[in-house]
Amino acid sequence: MRLNRRGLLFGTAGAAAASLAACGKGEESKQLTGHTGIAMPTTVSDRWVIEGADLEKRLQDLGYKTILEYGEDDVPTQIQQIQSMIDAGVEFLIIGAIGNTSLGEVLSDAKNKGVTIISYDRLILETPDVDYYASFDNYQVGVLQAKHIISRLGLSQDSTETFNIELFSGSLDDNNSQYFFQGGMDTLEPFIYSGQIVIPSNETEQEPTSTQQWDPKLARERMARLLDDFYKDEPLHAVLSPYDGISRGIVEALVAADFEPGSDDFPVITGQDAEARSLKAIKEGTGQSETVFKDTRNLAEVAVNMVKAIVGGSTPEVNDNGTYDNGFKFIPSFLLEPVDVTAENYQEIVVDSGYITEEEIDNAPADEG
Ligand code: BGC
Repeated sequence: MRLNRRGLLFGTAGAAAASLAACGKGEESKQLTGHTGIAMPTTVSDRWVIEGADLEKRLQDLGYKTILEYGEDDVPTQIQQIQSMIDAGVEFLIIGAIGNTSLGEVLSDAKNKGVTIISYDRLILETPDVDYYASFDNYQVGVLQAKHIISRLGLSQDSTETFNIELFSGSLDDNNSQYFFQGGMDTLEPFIYSGQIVIPSNETEQEPTSTQQWDPKLARERMARLLDDFYKDEPLHAVLSPYDGISRGIVEALVAADFEPGSDDFPVITGQDAEARSLKAIKEGTGQSETVFKDTRNLAEVAVNMVKAIVGGSTPEVNDNGTYDNGFKFIPSFLLEPVDVTAENYQEIVVDSGYITEEEIDNAPADEG
């Protein structure tokens, strides 16, 4: 019987199950309305703004009620927003977490009330209460970024040139950061060992390369410091950057130090998220030369399908059960594939697919604005 299967699967007899128990069989979907709280991390980065609206629309189109909130990179704010959603009676939570280990208590309350918890893009750690994870192959993001550097520098086992590279990683309290960084480092490693890649700062671990809250200003400051300390007389050939905002901060520091975008001396810089301002730089050759596109329309669809499946009385589809351990258990996950985007393929990947228009790219402000 469905009720038992779901009760066993989630290990709780929560409100959803209780409301099922209270009604006769054919009334199930009427009782489960799909009321969903969407807790997003920030409006500073385009992707979360697009996704919040997309998730709301998709859920509302199915007739579900929604509450959408942005925590603006502040952990206590996000906790309080999630608490209000629980108090408002949501049956589902879709959470893009700010602090990956800070939500245990509030999620425990949610779970006691039978709420199904979907960790959205960023895995929530150290709690038994996460039911599903919807994300991308985050390790592959770093692999694509590193491969871009390798290909642009023309590195191969047989090449003899040496290149100077610096490394940036994301926020330490975001579980994705380590996957991006590890994917990048594993891919660059053979060239580091062979001496073809040198990292003059010697900052090669996640912590010293990290960028708290993915803040472009912090990236700009660190890049300025690295340029001052190591590149007065040395060329800088590439920068591994995990996210477009960070990439633009790096570019700002380079420009302030008189590096000229588009010139031969300008380093290869990677990125992630296909943000309009970064796509403009990629298209015009005025900054980073790559971004990793994660089609967030598909991610929103995956998360909404999870809600829809449960409302309809079935088990959500997942495609990975053994990669993402949150400290308590491997979380059943649906992982999508990221795509490498450069000046050569941006039209096909992000414009022709309807993700963004050419005008939006052209009209994007040049700086952080
Ligand atoms: C996301 C990235 C994003 C970063 C900063 C990460 O958790 O996976 O897509 O660039 O957060 O918002």
